Amino acid sequence: EDKQRSEAFEARIDAGDFIEAKDWMPEHYRKTLVRQISQHAHSEIVGMLPEGNWITRAPTLKRKAILLAKVQDEGGHGLYLYSAAETLGTSRDQMLEALHSGKAKYSSIFNYPTLSWADIGVIGWLVDGAAIMNQVPLCRCSYAPYARAMIRICREESFHQRQGYESLLVMMQNGTAEQKAMVQDAVNRWWWPSLMMFGPEDKDSPNSEQSMRWGIKRISNDDLRQKFVDATIPQAEVLGVTVPDPDLKWNAATEHYQFGRIDWAEFWRVVGGDGPCNRERLAARVKAWDEGEWVREAALAHASKQATKAQA
Ligand code: 3HC
Repeated sequence: EDKQRSEAFEARIDAGDFIEAKDWMPEHYRKTLVRQISQHAHSEIVGMLPEGNWITRAPTLKRKAILLAKVQDEGGHGLYLYSAAETLGTSRDQMLEALHSGKAKYSSIFNYPTLSWADIGVIGWLVDGAAIMNQVPLCRCSYAPYARAMIRICREESFHQRQGYESLLVMMQNGTAEQKAMVQDAVNRWWWPSLMMFGPEDKDSPNSEQSMRWGIKRISNDDLRQKFVDATIPQAEVLGVTVPDPDLKWNAATEHYQFGRIDWAEFWRVVGGDGPCNRERLAARVKAWDEGEWVREAALAHASKQATKAQA
């Protein structure tokens, strides 16, 4: 009987159907989505830390207000995605326990330090730029609640990317030589980790084949990474910065940029928990969780009082 339902499910996916939370789905499809959506949510929440580090040190009130709005957006994206994951039957507590215990992953990019103000502009330009590249296809993900969450999130991400790029343009066009050097230094540190956001090469990606068959992943890791490089290099030229890749070169025949080898040992080291800031990031999240215990208790107490009142 499950065989029949599986075949019907595969036919729906092949027909380009969108699956709703109440629809029957294979256990593996559900598990794959809980894994991806919860880790996506973790990435948004942990992603608040590197940027949050500069809110008190933004150079002007305008930049502070923009950064505050962006960090708040990331928090909202995280909560939105945790809710999308909950439609699959997992709970907030289960997902957060997986993050805090180190069992769940979050995007490796957030394990790098933000050493100067220019990092904030480069994160907006490169990290949010890569995130948009990866999230636009997810607006057509076969699991409808995830696709709907992505549509709203992508709108806010494009503001994130534009504000980052604009702040770099100001530094590169009106800044001192020192400020221009600060931007180039930040690009040198964030370029390769941004390419790693797209995941391992397709040949080394255990989840891609199934995720592409199920319409969860619409474009492969390598193709998205290539799209990102092709779109970003011209922006770097307008900015007047270079990327730290001596092998980068335009291939007129393929109409793509060729680029150097990614250090996959670094990628797996950072994904495995041994990056520059992994321990610090996880400790910050566990500390926030522990210190928030009283807020959760108060909210639950209030909710149960409301419920009792409503029954009276
Ligand atoms: N950091 C950490 N782990 C990564 C990773 C990265 N950059 N890239 C891949 N991985 C992990 C995968 O999660 C998988 O491990 P798992 O099976 O334990 O989950 C393993 O490496 C193998 O990778 P696969 O390519 O086989 O895995 P996927 O098919 O899941 O592809 C992905 C990886 C492209 C990141 C995909 O999961 C995805 O599209 N996720 C949703 C989008 C997302 O998370 N984007 C990055 C977050 S940045 C962000 O959104 C914040 C923004 O606002 C700045």
